[in-house]
Amino acid sequence: MRIFYFDPDDKRRQVQTVYLENILNEVEVEVASQLAGPLGALAKLEHHTPFDLVLVVAPPSIAVFELYQQTQQKGTRVAFILMSEHSLSTFAGMEGFQSQNPKNDYVQLPIAPTDFREIILKSLSPSYGQRVIPAFQKVRLIHFLRFSKALCNVYVKLSNHKYVKVINAGSTFDRHDIEKYREKKVSHLYIRNDDFERFQVTIHETPFLTFQSDKMSEADLQKCLGNTHAILKEMILEIGITREIADLAEKSVDEIVNLAYQQQDLAELLKNMQLRLDYIYDHSFLTSIVCCEILKHMHWNTEDKVKKLVMAAILHDIKISDPNICKIDSSLDTRLQSYSTQERKAFFAHPMETSLLITGVDFISPEVASIILQHHETPEGDGFPNGLHHSKLSLLSCIFIVAHAFVQKNLELDFDPDQQNKIFEELIKRFSLGSFKSVLDAFSNLRA
Ligand SMILES: [Fe+2]
Ligand SMILES: [Fe+2]
Repeated sequence: MRIFYFDPDDKRRQVQTVYLENILNEVEVEVASQLAGPLGALAKLEHHTPFDLVLVVAPPSIAVFELYQQTQQKGTRVAFILMSEHSLSTFAGMEGFQSQNPKNDYVQLPIAPTDFREIILKSLSPSYGQRVIPAFQKVRLIHFLRFSKALCNVYVKLSNHKYVKVINAGSTFDRHDIEKYREKKVSHLYIRNDDFERFQVTIHETPFLTFQSDKMSEADLQKCLGNTHAILKEMILEIGITREIADLAEKSVDEIVNLAYQQQDLAELLKNMQLRLDYIYDHSFLTSIVCCEILKHMHWNTEDKVKKLVMAAILHDIKISDPNICKIDSSLDTRLQSYSTQERKAFFAHPMETSLLITGVDFISPEVASIILQHHETPEGDGFPNGLHHSKLSLLSCIFIVAHAFVQKNLELDFDPDQQNKIFEELIKRFSLGSFKSVLDAFSNLRA
């Protein structure tokens, strides 16, 4: 499926190209911005296999008619869409071009993204009906549980072609309704493609969701945490983690949180992390479950080891408040360049600072402080803060580092069961030295 798209306006061309690529599967968009007259574009038309659609967004100063004539000479009835801020009558020779092919169209700009999509689809139907990308993108239900207001319309999917609006743009929603969907085994709600693009939604970020008020009551928070745990557990069970292990880890997390609340500094940091309920909390909770699963496969799941690793998982990034920097694992990651020197310094210091914060707290073992200090070290010794080689890392630290990497990769790939082999292959390559290898050998049983 090929579209030729001419538009001299750089900004608009970039945006519309993204829209075009999101309308159809396997679409190849050939863009042109400067016609050495439209002749440059014409040459392209002549030397390639035929286009299925020619889209021209232009002022009357461009020789659109020549371009149109050229497309028609190809003998195929290629659809031709002209879009402009000027009226059709200002384009010499183009009067009546719509009647020459029912798929041709003229559109007066400006145009909304949804209308743009409809016009393109109309011109390409019915031959491309099967390859149309759905007009909706899915968003995990968990995100809705954490907010109370949507800035765009939200839909529930009834079938491949039927979506029903359940939340109006700009309106608040009730968490009980979201919980009802969860009880009905609905895992995702949907928003339109153009809203998905407009708000730059990703697996982890949903800027179209916000709060009705910035205060969440204690009861609300507890309910929200309970639901968050339930959904995170559902996600991780889908990729083969044992339910008893997930329940055991959750119980241990609850006990540790209760203990941590008795220590003022920890209580404050923990509360902040819980209130934000973002990537930092999710990956900490999930890492605690995966640590327990690895312990089970290593036949080392004593109460003491479970408690130490769960405690490290919940507290390891407690001093970080930016969920994006938290996704960075290596000091060489280029994403660090977008942070100030001070922010980078704080990031590189967080293993040491957190470890110092918990040292001496009566219910926390020194081994937990050591795991936290070592959680960004690597088998090759190029991690931070101390660049320790694998032989200097404790076995508990190795388990933690592998569990953390596994969770990070799964959050990035939205816990896709089909990607698990690929994830394990990557982990096996990355953690092939010393104790890391024995951890991976045991954990790989999860794939069996
Ligand atoms: Fe982390
Ligand atoms: Fe960290």
